[in-house]
Amino acid sequence: MKYTVIFAAIAFTLASCGGGSDKTDSGNNNATQQETPNADTETAKPEPVTLTIDGNDQMQYDKKELHAKAGQEVTLELTHSGTMDKQAMGHNWCLLKKGVDMNAFAMEAMKANDNQYIPKGSNQLIAHTDLIGGGEKTSVTFTAPKAGTYTFLCSFPGHHATMNGKFIVD
Ligand code: CO
Repeated sequence: MKYTVIFAAIAFTLASCGGGSDKTDSGNNNATQQETPNADTETAKPEPVTLTIDGNDQMQYDKKELHAKAGQEVTLELTHSGTMDKQAMGHNWCLLKKGVDMNAFAMEAMKANDNQYIPKGSNQLIAHTDLIGGGEKTSVTFTAPKAGTYTFLCSFPGHHATMNGKFIVD
């Protein structure tokens, strides 16, 4: 009888010690986080984002899809992980406006060899980078268009067949 009482007492003590070592006052954290909501939440623009894509000597991008939000400030960083120069294996990143035919644009771009393969005065692009060669990098910053699926490509002659993908705006 006596032993039972003692064991019970010990068990109780151990239990309360264990319980007592819990993280204290988790309720307090909530109080300090309450300052965040503000009136601008609904109209706030999405945070700027940096997207990266690489081109190589095999005439390939490392991504077939990129994502952004409507109205978001996007910085697209293009790298060229190959070693060939830009006369032989130049890469850029061109984002076409909705409804622009990629093949037709690429045909036109091919003739613009004095302008980094960007047709002069073209209004078919949302954004484009400079043309780079192996080991180089460049970037362009632009505002993501309205929600939808857009096409990106490299406009260096012959590259768009393998170097293209979808820019998806949510
Ligand atoms: Co290219």
